[in-house]
Amino acid sequence: MASLLERKLIVVTGKGGAGKSTIAGALGLLAARRGLRTLVVEVGERSHLAALYGRATGPVEDGAEQPAGVEGGDEPRASAEQDDAEPDGVGPDGEVELEPGLWTLSLDPDRALIEWMRDLGGRLPARVLASSSSFQYFAAAAPGAEELVSLVKLHVLSGVGGGRYDLVVLDAPATGHALAMLAAPATFTAIVRGGPLARRAVEVREMLQDDRLSGYVAVARPTEMAVSETLDLERGLSEQVGRDLDAVVVNGTVARRFAPAELARLDALAGEAAASDRGDQRIDSIAAAAARAAQAAGERARSQRRQIARLRRLRLARWPIGDPAACPGGRASYSRLDRRSAAPSVFSVPFAFVPQLDRVELEKIAARLARSLLSPES
Ligand SMILES: Nc1ncnc2c1ncn2[C@@H]1O[C@H](COP(=O)(O)OP(=O)(O)O)[C@@H](O)[C@H]1O
Ligand SMILES: [Mg+2]
Repeated sequence: MASLLERKLIVVTGKGGAGKSTIAGALGLLAARRGLRTLVVEVGERSHLAALYGRATGPVEDGAEQPAGVEGGDEPRASAEQDDAEPDGVGPDGEVELEPGLWTLSLDPDRALIEWMRDLGGRLPARVLASSSSFQYFAAAAPGAEELVSLVKLHVLSGVGGGRYDLVVLDAPATGHALAMLAAPATFTAIVRGGPLARRAVEVREMLQDDRLSGYVAVARPTEMAVSETLDLERGLSEQVGRDLDAVVVNGTVARRFAPAELARLDALAGEAAASDRGDQRIDSIAAAAARAAQAAGERARSQRRQIARLRRLRLARWPIGDPAACPGGRASYSRLDRRSAAPSVFSVPFAFVPQLDRVELEKIAARLARSLLSPES
């Protein structure tokens, strides 16, 4: 995990609502504060991060002015240098600067595909292409084309493709869609051998497979089902992209407020309260309610800890001792000792009890992630 910010692309995925956008934004903030020129990309959605900064972004409407960076050439070329960014912090691809070094982009897959087709088709207006039968035909005949072209766009923006960002954080779609997206380059290159898109697909596939260039982060709530789904995601990623998760962020944990002895006393108190509820003596109803609430909070924290422990245990079990062939990612086998340190990090981000996450909370989450980078098993 310590080297995660040294990659060129970090893919953040997980179930819808798990906190992908929040964690992707916090990672982006962290990277930007460390001096990396960072782009957080959301696909097909308005930028959640921009909204936190009170900036509205959205997929640009068809027919709007095309960005300069996609004109001409056989292939979309890396867009212009930083200096070409608009003075109000809007980049040539419509990305928005939220604070120094932190940019965000809502990537519209339809538009990415239209741009691509337009470049190949000698700069036809997007409107014409969108309605032309050849475009419709291509989009229908090449399932995954939109996903692929979106990834090509990220590659072009990233340092790997010669783009202007040190780090691209992809706030990816939810698990199933994300896996389909990540598998698109390999699927495409297996079918189509020649042509500019196939060449690009090979480059993207190499970036996704290379653990020096890309990293994968799953976000999960601390529940039994989310833990199981994360293990499924890890299996899918390994099968479809040949990679393991670099980190799992368990998001929305509650603090363990009570020591075991205190929990035992709470259990006793709640028991007494239940007994006095049934009798006709006057009870201290506030104390009884408080005891039950505390008991519930304690139980919630306990159950979350159990799930985090289960996640760690089951992920460690994927690294069999002394069996290189069975090691995910074709790594050398691990001894019992180094297995623990080599296994990807699992770390938690507490639930923020605020009506609405804001920048202050995002900074706290980023700080928390920063601490986790230094001592991954915390
Ligand atoms: N650690 C947290 N504490 C409190 N609220 C959170 C936390 N993480 C995310 N949220 C909130 O949960 C909701 C879903 O988070 P979001 O990042 O949009 O998830 P996703 O992108 O996976 O759908 C949002 O309203 C967000 O503000
Ligand atoms: Mg989201």
